[in-house]
Amino acid sequence: MKIGILGAGAIGTAVATRLAAGGHQVVLSNSRGPDTLASVVGKLGSGVSAGTRDEAAQAELVVLAVPGDRTTEALAGLPGWDGRVLVDATNDYAGSSSGPEGETSSEAVARRAPGARVVKAFNHLFAATLAADPRRPEGNRVLFVSGDDDDAKKMFTGLLTELGFAPIDLGGLADGGRLHQVPGGPLLGQDLVRLTPAEQQTRQ
Ligand SMILES: NC(=O)c1ccc[n+]([C@@H]2O[C@H](COP(=O)([O-])OP(=O)(O)OC[C@H]3O[C@@H](n4cnc5c(N)ncnc54)[C@H](OP(=O)(O)O)[C@@H]3O)[C@@H](O)[C@H]2O)c1
Repeated sequence: MKIGILGAGAIGTAVATRLAAGGHQVVLSNSRGPDTLASVVGKLGSGVSAGTRDEAAQAELVVLAVPGDRTTEALAGLPGWDGRVLVDATNDYAGSSSGPEGETSSEAVARRAPGARVVKAFNHLFAATLAADPRRPEGNRVLFVSGDDDDAKKMFTGLLTELGFAPIDLGGLADGGRLHQVPGGPLLGQDLVRLTPAEQQTRQ
């Protein structure tokens, strides 16, 4: 799959690392243009290239990995989403939502990307953890996912499973999103493993 990433810092490159390891084509972008990303993509292998924000945003699946107070700028003026999937990895420490009271940060992202099917993920683990191989002898690393479109979540959780993660669907962006929202939710840094059936057997 061709996957675009908006943001090429700690989380953007961690996600790119896992996607490239899974054989996907990744277009990484930042606010300053592809020329500034030569050394970053050089370290990530042949599956990862640098592109403009527009090029990254045209991919079949796009990951948003910019600072929480930069999501408005990062999503402004992009080509139409037409139902493509936008994975929101951001955490809004600055509380920059200007929407209705109680809106979760990923609902705010969805409001800023009309037509995108937004899935919240990749936001509760630290970048170094996320970049590492999620397959362990006893089981696979858990990633929490929420979103309002079941087909988008199905497609995305299928991708995560193929990469070796163990996705857990927490529900919609309002209810589930609040559970893994950072700050506020209880899940920041919880590095959990879903035990393999064999491992469960041995522990019973
Ligand atoms: N670091 C973690 O462990 C961690 C864990 C979970 C979630 N998160 C969340 O993930 C997001 C990214 O965090 P990070 O640590 O990766 O940040 P970071 O290392 O500071 O990188 C931010 C990236 O976003 C880019 N960017 C900023 N404004 C942009 C725009 N308007 N358009 C396109 N790209 C833009 C920056 O590009 P320029 O350099 O060109 O400005 C940079 O490549 C944040 O919301 C953070 O809360 C981080």
